[in-house]
Amino acid sequence: MQQDKLWNEWHPVCTAEELLDDPKQVHVLGERVVVFRNEKGVHAFKDLCIHRGAALSLGKVVDGKLVCAYHAWEYNDHGTCTKIPALPCERPIPKKARATVYHCEEYLGLIWVNLGDEPAPFIKYPEGEQEGYRTIICGPYHVNANAPRIIENFLDVSHLMFVHEGMLGDSDHAEVVDYDVDFIDGRLMTSKIPVYQPNSDGRSKGGYTDYVYEVLNPIVARFTKTTEGSDEEFTILTAVNQLDHEKCQVFMLLTRNYDLDAPDQPFREFQDVIFYQDLDVVESQKPELLPLDLQMEMHLKSDALTIAYRRWLDELGVENGTLPIDREKRSKRKK
Ligand code: FES
Ligand code: CO
Repeated sequence: MQQDKLWNEWHPVCTAEELLDDPKQVHVLGERVVVFRNEKGVHAFKDLCIHRGAALSLGKVVDGKLVCAYHAWEYNDHGTCTKIPALPCERPIPKKARATVYHCEEYLGLIWVNLGDEPAPFIKYPEGEQEGYRTIICGPYHVNANAPRIIENFLDVSHLMFVHEGMLGDSDHAEVVDYDVDFIDGRLMTSKIPVYQPNSDGRSKGGYTDYVYEVLNPIVARFTKTTEGSDEEFTILTAVNQLDHEKCQVFMLLTRNYDLDAPDQPFREFQDVIFYQDLDVVESQKPELLPLDLQMEMHLKSDALTIAYRRWLDELGVENGTLPIDREKRSKRKK
């Protein structure tokens, strides 16, 4: 199962704004998870009360504790049951009365959950917090495909001129120049790839734009677009949560260092259009699991980045298009 191998990765489950007073049910790798917020921050448990298996997400947060809707057992944020109303007060609460706790963090306006015992390092996205940059969240987009197919589509340069013609590309400028892909500081990174863009961010600025792509981990990637002679930077960070065997949700963070006072909505609407242009193609791809054997499918020089992505997944010990996340193997690749 592909998703089991992503156990130690961080998955974006919802926006921070969606998680206020009430607990919320989310899904990660086929697991039903409840996330909730108290004064100490955000927390994630398996969405299952050990008493009778009710979803804890049906409950409430009271005085910082998650209270089950069925018989009102209370769990503190360490997962310890601190109150069982039906239990006479002289009887101790059984030690077994615990929730299964997962790692949970709030970062970049998103809530991230990690199911693993050895969480992979958290991604860094400095632009998301830097002064002079503005980030908006797009999505979640729902896709009936596996995470690596989605990430690979995001990394694919030579489709821009066709799937996104008139916006991110022009079929009369379809050639992709040779570019480098290196492994730097634990991530894949390309050199600048010039692409002719009729309308690079939805606001009709035609011309050549340089893309620099980075793959931060198997399910998070980004690119930054710049134009020669301009200080303007436009970055998209894509983070995929594999909900179950076939479905994903995708968040995209759009960050710009220009027109900071301009309305965000046009950027968001443009991104929605772009995303839905890709959707049919990505959902149509067979096999569903990304083939890591480079004898399968065909590869051109212009596919150098997606070839490198497949190789990296393979080096991480992948079998049959699955994704084991192994920190040791990841760090071995350091240059
Ligand atoms: Fe949760 Fe009984 S099922 S308290
Ligand atoms: Co696309």
